[in-house]
Amino acid sequence: MKIGIIGYGSMGRMITEKIAASGVLNAGDIFVANRSKEKLQTIPEGVIVCESNADVAKNSDIVFLCVRPIDLKNVLSEIASSLSTNSFVVSLNGSITFDMLSKIFSGKIAKVIPSVTAEVDRSQTLVCYNEKVEEKDKQELEKLLRTFGNVIELPETEVGMGSELVSCMPGFIASIFDVLCTSAKKHTSIPDDQVVKMVLQTMCATGELMLSKDMSFEDVVTRVATKGGITEEGTKVVYEGFPDTADLLFEKTLEKRRSTAEKAKKSFEEE
Ligand SMILES: NC(=O)c1ccc[n+]([C@@H]2O[C@H](COP(=O)([O-])OP(=O)(O)OC[C@H]3O[C@@H](n4cnc5c(N)ncnc54)[C@H](OP(=O)(O)O)[C@@H]3O)[C@@H](O)[C@H]2O)c1
Repeated sequence: MKIGIIGYGSMGRMITEKIAASGVLNAGDIFVANRSKEKLQTIPEGVIVCESNADVAKNSDIVFLCVRPIDLKNVLSEIASSLSTNSFVVSLNGSITFDMLSKIFSGKIAKVIPSVTAEVDRSQTLVCYNEKVEEKDKQELEKLLRTFGNVIELPETEVGMGSELVSCMPGFIASIFDVLCTSAKKHTSIPDDQVVKMVLQTMCATGELMLSKDMSFEDVVTRVATKGGITEEGTKVVYEGFPDTADLLFEKTLEKRRSTAEKAKKSFEEE
């Protein structure tokens, strides 16, 4: 199998480097192109740089479109005549629908949303497929995606909320724990960086504990917050005060997601 990466920015580079390093493909079976040529000076050894996006499309069974939504329509239109009925196009963007993409390329299409935790091979990568994609195509794509973490298939209608849960969640988690640590620092002389490390290690270990022992959030709370104890004072504050903030968070992000999808649709429909 040969694959192509169009757009060597944050996502294109990550996917190229992870797949090349994994050994699931020979580096010589990976074809890359980017608008500005300077970025391509750092591609992994053996990966092939193409002169044009069309050359990437011609050479590849699976073509990853790793460009911003504003560039997606032009790039797909540019390569459409170089794709065959067997080509499998993978869009990295959650806002551009299969309906929009199919107007330009009517074959096999997937949408793939990796998370930043791919950097440590622990992405919870979302994937959804249009009706043309067959089981063997899914298996081939997912083998590539597993080189940087888990793969979760969702229907297209759930990719938005799915993205909140895995792609946006590192940002939500970081901001929540940033607030917690900022508050904690007011009450201690432990150095700031040590406070952060203590909380981060405990956060990761709590996740590992829950996953390995199949514990729920409630299990952990019950285990730590004994009746009338100190932890219970804190967990009560969270359960009383935080639900409104969490509701607002998802209301705001989902509203933003709807308006982004609307804008993406308009830009895609423009001539
Ligand atoms: N970043 C994330 O965490 C993340 C997560 C999930 C999904 N996504 C999605 O992934 C896609 C890519 O995001 P990104 O963060 O990787 O963007 P990025 O860092 O801006 O990279 C986009 C790349 O596309 C190149 N490009 C633009 N037009 C091109 C063209 N006509 N031909 C060839 N290359 C072209 C750009 O080249 P230049 O060097 O010339 O600018 C740039 O290197 C987006 O749809 C985004 O929504 C991103």
